[in-house]
Amino acid sequence: MAERIQVVLARAGIASRRKSEDLVRQGRVTVNGKVIKEPGFPVTFGKDDIRVDGRPVRCLESKITLILNKPKGVVTTARDPQGRPTVTDLVARLKHRLFPIGRLDYDTEGLLLLTNDGSLAQRLQHPRYGVEKVYKAKIKGRPDYSALKRLCEGVILDGKKTAPAKVKKVGTTQEHTWIEIAIHEGRNRQVRRMCKAVGHPVLKLKRIGYGALKLGDLKPGSYRILTAREIAVLKEAAKPDRQKNG
Ligand code: URA
Repeated sequence: MAERIQVVLARAGIASRRKSEDLVRQGRVTVNGKVIKEPGFPVTFGKDDIRVDGRPVRCLESKITLILNKPKGVVTTARDPQGRPTVTDLVARLKHRLFPIGRLDYDTEGLLLLTNDGSLAQRLQHPRYGVEKVYKAKIKGRPDYSALKRLCEGVILDGKKTAPAKVKKVGTTQEHTWIEIAIHEGRNRQVRRMCKAVGHPVLKLKRIGYGALKLGDLKPGSYRILTAREIAVLKEAAKPDRQKNG
């Protein structure tokens, strides 16, 4: 996202916006090796090489992490070649460059974290720490004891057994069952493929928990910034001594 040069310089703590404009007019700012003299010049932080007096400008942007209720019909990428709405569109009002931690399918809704904190993202996604993710799924039919047991004990996907999961039935009708399933891995379309493998395809899927975080009553498309305490608890869930099987 392109922004005016003085906005970027001010955010990086170089000087106030007004003083940053002066730096530009004085010819002390280069973008990709060229002196620019026009305040308002558009730059993309992280992409353009911005320097003041020859020294690279680094980011002072504060770290933030959001919990978003991703609606169905939104992709979990920054840009979509097919032009579909993206999760970054939903948080565009914030000036931070945020990226999603992990992903949810286009058709899945629910809890998605977005952050500009690369080390937090890396830690939470590290397979070694296996942070628990909880999903509520509407599945076709009425699974019997052995189907639920297979989900818990693991099914073979791509030649490898899924790690132990916790599964509970939370509702049934004649044709459908609602289950909650807690997994510690993040394989592609994992819950959908696990349920299909035991003969009960997923009709609706929503992520309702991530570590100690719960989606709660956040409406689809809404988000809120996590508190320092919530982030500390999340990090606690991604500690080596929390290592899970598989
Ligand atoms: N499992 C899935 O099948 N889909 C998701 O979006 C997340 C987990």
